[in-house]
Amino acid sequence: MSYTVSQLLTQDISFQPIEIKGWVRTFRANRFIALNDGSTLHNIQCVVDFENTDEATLKRITTGAAVHVKGELVESQGKGQKVEIQVNSIEILGDSDPEEYPIQPRKHGFEFLRTQAHLRTRTNTFSAVMRLRSALSFAIHKYFNDNGFYYMHTPIITGSDAEGAGEMFRVSTLDAKNPPLDDNGAVNYKEDFFGKETNLTVSGQLEAETYAMSLGKVYTFGPTFRAENSNTSRHLAEFWMIEPEVAFMDLDGNMDLAEDFMKSVLSYVLEHNKEDLEFLDQRLQGEEKKLPQAERSPMNLIEKIKFVVDNNFKRVSYTEAIDILKNSKPNKKKKFKYIIEEWGADLQSEHERFLVEKHFKCPVILFDYPANIKAFYMRLNDDGKTVRAMDILFPGIGEMVGGSQREERLEVLKDKMKALDIPEDELWWYLDLRKYGTAVHSGFGLGFERLVMFATGMGNIRDVIPYPRTPQNAEF
Ligand code: 4AD
Ligand code: MG
Repeated sequence: MSYTVSQLLTQDISFQPIEIKGWVRTFRANRFIALNDGSTLHNIQCVVDFENTDEATLKRITTGAAVHVKGELVESQGKGQKVEIQVNSIEILGDSDPEEYPIQPRKHGFEFLRTQAHLRTRTNTFSAVMRLRSALSFAIHKYFNDNGFYYMHTPIITGSDAEGAGEMFRVSTLDAKNPPLDDNGAVNYKEDFFGKETNLTVSGQLEAETYAMSLGKVYTFGPTFRAENSNTSRHLAEFWMIEPEVAFMDLDGNMDLAEDFMKSVLSYVLEHNKEDLEFLDQRLQGEEKKLPQAERSPMNLIEKIKFVVDNNFKRVSYTEAIDILKNSKPNKKKKFKYIIEEWGADLQSEHERFLVEKHFKCPVILFDYPANIKAFYMRLNDDGKTVRAMDILFPGIGEMVGGSQREERLEVLKDKMKALDIPEDELWWYLDLRKYGTAVHSGFGLGFERLVMFATGMGNIRDVIPYPRTPQNAEF
């Protein structure tokens, strides 16, 4: 029978003829193969009977080679593992030149491994991260399915800029060197594939709203594209976003949903991905030991995740947050790069980090932001100057979630669009929702990679997505 390493290590299958296929991590003393097949962090030790194996085959058992092993699972004679495979025969499926193979059995820097992203999941750290990424995706779909949401596929190619930030990748089949021009000498997109200007979506929200207003509770979970030229450890040009949208739900309900959702998916991995989390926890502790005491985190990775699962997020209005920031030490001592002078200021990541890491020391939901620093679709409060927006800020990450109650009043929405020069005929279908059976509704967007960063303790967003897309980089 064929097994995975995970099955061999967790199931009771000793003393039977077994088969396994995997990649050699190390081969020592011409006798001990550490074999990994991706099913678990652990390797299985395969003990080769070198006297009965021909020399040529032994030479081909090198780090990185793919092999097919037949043998018996027996109690291990050595330390470090309970069981091992007594090899009867070994077939080399694919050789690997040990001189050239980039993933040597020693520590590699993450920067180097990014250049070998097609092979980096053959290391413990990246295989653990990607198994967690997969488990988190599953937990997300499970949460919504268990709670009566429908999974909706919003379009990747759109004609609208949902966030109004203008950071879009154009989708076009026109000849870039020689595009058709209109009477004014501008590019004539009427002749383009879709007969209009189109771009890759920056958010599925507007389309998700249409389905919430008929199916009730929906969510999208798909790729999202932003041409922000920000080379930070938290931004990607292509990232995955989870966007639930719910009819008849106000901002308080939205906060409750976001909090319950995040706690639920994090609990799922605490329960189901213990080994990988413990490994990543150790890794992070090793990293932190290199930092000065003051910069080390008071909690280890698993404690941090448990803390989020077990404690309420702090809910604070933007106005309260500005007061806290104005009176904070780094503001008074001009330690912030952007000094908070007055109400209305946009919060920078240094301010967000101060609030969650220094002041509240827990996840914070900031709500009721000034209307003019947020997107057009957010519901205006009675004060006429703030909107029902919420951002969820996480320690070590900053903004994890952005969401809001949506403007459901046709006239208010039209006025807002007019003020921002958003043409009504582009979003006629969005306005229709406010004409036919409009109702209070809300939703949010969670940046999936930022969640994976939090759950794995990885410090750079490029290391939690298989093939990161960032400015000047689209390799693989
Ligand atoms: O705050 P944002 O821009 O909100 C929206 O797009 C809304 N339409 C969501 C909604 O209400 N349905 O983005 C949501 C989240 C951010 O909080 C952040 O976690 C993540 O998406 N995000 C990014 N993640 C990685 N790289 C980027 N360039 C990101 N931009 C936003
Ligand atoms: Mg945001």
